[in-house]
Amino acid sequence: MKTILRIDSSPLDSASFSRHLTAEFVQKWQHMNPDGKVIARDLATTKLSPVNAEWIGAAHSPEPSLTPRQREVLALSEELIAELNAADEFVIGVPMHNFSIPATLKLWIDQIVRIGKTTSYENGAPAGLLRNKKATFLVASGGVYSPGTPMAAMNFVEPYLRSVFGFIGVTDTRFVNASGTARLQYGIDRETILQPALASIHAHFQAA
Ligand SMILES: Cc1cc2nc3c(=O)[nH]c(=O)nc-3n(C[C@H](O)[C@H](O)[C@H](O)COP(=O)(O)O)c2cc1C
Repeated sequence: MKTILRIDSSPLDSASFSRHLTAEFVQKWQHMNPDGKVIARDLATTKLSPVNAEWIGAAHSPEPSLTPRQREVLALSEELIAELNAADEFVIGVPMHNFSIPATLKLWIDQIVRIGKTTSYENGAPAGLLRNKKATFLVASGGVYSPGTPMAAMNFVEPYLRSVFGFIGVTDTRFVNASGTARLQYGIDRETILQPALASIHAHFQAA
């Protein structure tokens, strides 16, 4: 049985473009995998705190020596990592915030990148531990950051996510962009804005 982990990180609900895309992606995925399991993780409603000294101390302590308090401190991290391990693939909705990922998604990343759990070092080189998994990032941005445009260099979403997911072993990654969502304010309708990204998602499932 296949499992997909759906992660949403937009603070918006029905007005969110990226949530529209993750919902569409999962619907298509379920059509292809009628017996498949969907794990949904909404970062807008998950209580994520910045890592602090106590968390860092616990995360770097050998597992057998963890105190009950340290286990409590790491409980959410363990839960989030279990979701990653349980899934064959991930679909992640990402709104661009200030040229990068939203703060909630960064807090999630800080919880799931852990030496000995999702990454390791072999002969001094990083070796990710989440092997044979793939990730699709559905990115919504107010502006347009296509390659070759002056704004392209300001897109820190894609290079960062490629790097950090590669670090934990997920190198099979795809990006689908819903760009120029700010055009909504100028009277362009949602369907028109979403159309290229939806077409890309549909093409992906048709090719599968
Ligand atoms: C706090 C904040 C920061 C944003 N920063 C950018 C930005 O740097 N570049 C951009 O193109 N759009 C930016 N936007 C616009 C969003 O990327 C756009 O509204 C997108 O549709 C958000 O995805 P969502 O609809 O799934 O929430 C920002 C929006 C917010 C709320």
